[in-house]
Amino acid sequence: MLSHTVTSRLICNVLQKSINYVPWRNVQVSVIGAAGEVGSCLSVLLKQNYKIKRLKLYDDDDKVKGIGMELDHIPGGPKVSAFSGNNMLPMSIDSADLVVMVQRVPRKPGNSRDQMIAANAPALQRLCRAIADQNPETVLAISTNPLNSMVPFASALLYKYGCYNPFKVLGVTQIDSARSRTYAANVLNVSPRSLRLPVIGGHSEESIIPLYSNMTPIEFCVDPCQADSLTRLVRKAGTEVVFQKQGYESATLAFAYSINEFVDSIIDALRGGEVVVNCYTANPHFGTRFFSGPTVVGPYGIIQACHEFTYSDYESFLLSSSVPVINRDVSLGEDYVRFIE
Ligand code: LMR
Repeated sequence: MLSHTVTSRLICNVLQKSINYVPWRNVQVSVIGAAGEVGSCLSVLLKQNYKIKRLKLYDDDDKVKGIGMELDHIPGGPKVSAFSGNNMLPMSIDSADLVVMVQRVPRKPGNSRDQMIAANAPALQRLCRAIADQNPETVLAISTNPLNSMVPFASALLYKYGCYNPFKVLGVTQIDSARSRTYAANVLNVSPRSLRLPVIGGHSEESIIPLYSNMTPIEFCVDPCQADSLTRLVRKAGTEVVFQKQGYESATLAFAYSINEFVDSIIDALRGGEVVVNCYTANPHFGTRFFSGPTVVGPYGIIQACHEFTYSDYESFLLSSSVPVINRDVSLGEDYVRFIE
């Protein structure tokens, strides 16, 4: 298990490290779980990204080979190769600058995200093992639920395997940012693209905290009553999709869209830029070991985890009630390492 001190020390080290210029480069991306609904949607979006040189798809299901073949019928974009079967997992992440984990069992109506740990942890464990053996320098983006536990779980595993870099393990929470902006834009009758707001906390009904009081441009503001109902909507959004899909799937389309947005920004960072993305990472600034929020990422991973905001009374209340929830979820993930091997 990772101690608070280890996490904080590693974070401070990187914050002090200066960023070296990385020459323009084409990036290699691997999608793990590419035959699933999120994975195949994401892969078709990534196939259109000319900044990617090589796109590798992996899934336990052989169907991924047909998906790879089909993507190769789309003219242009990255060269695609597809791999299936556990023994091909290392090959599928070899030389990848970014590995995106979307493999997951979707939750059913009535389940909460934290109930998905037993279903989803084994695949992430296999991936972490492969990363440690084959490509310990890669950036790992995790989009598998329960996110609040899976990022600490992967971090503890990579630590155990001797290759943990807290600046390179990111939980994708861009969907919460997309939903928060879209719902506010609907209320305000403006374009969601014109709105910016930090969404902090974690990725669960009890821990997502959209900071509507920090929304910009400042002329677009919502009153406390609207902030309360928008927050409830954002927190329930994933569960509502699960319910509406009647147990067939959880969110896939908007989910893949938001992961693609995230990946595109990370690629810009890996090519030498500095970007801000919403993600759940090691972060000691809020009384938890992991926390989500707008995070500055550069060519070598996280440059600056989020740390300071101003809060309305309502947001202060949400934050103080989220901290114990996140701490519980973090411990669940870290402790789960014991059950898996
Ligand atoms: C979401 O927010 O839509 C995802 O976390 C999927 C889920 O199970 O809710």
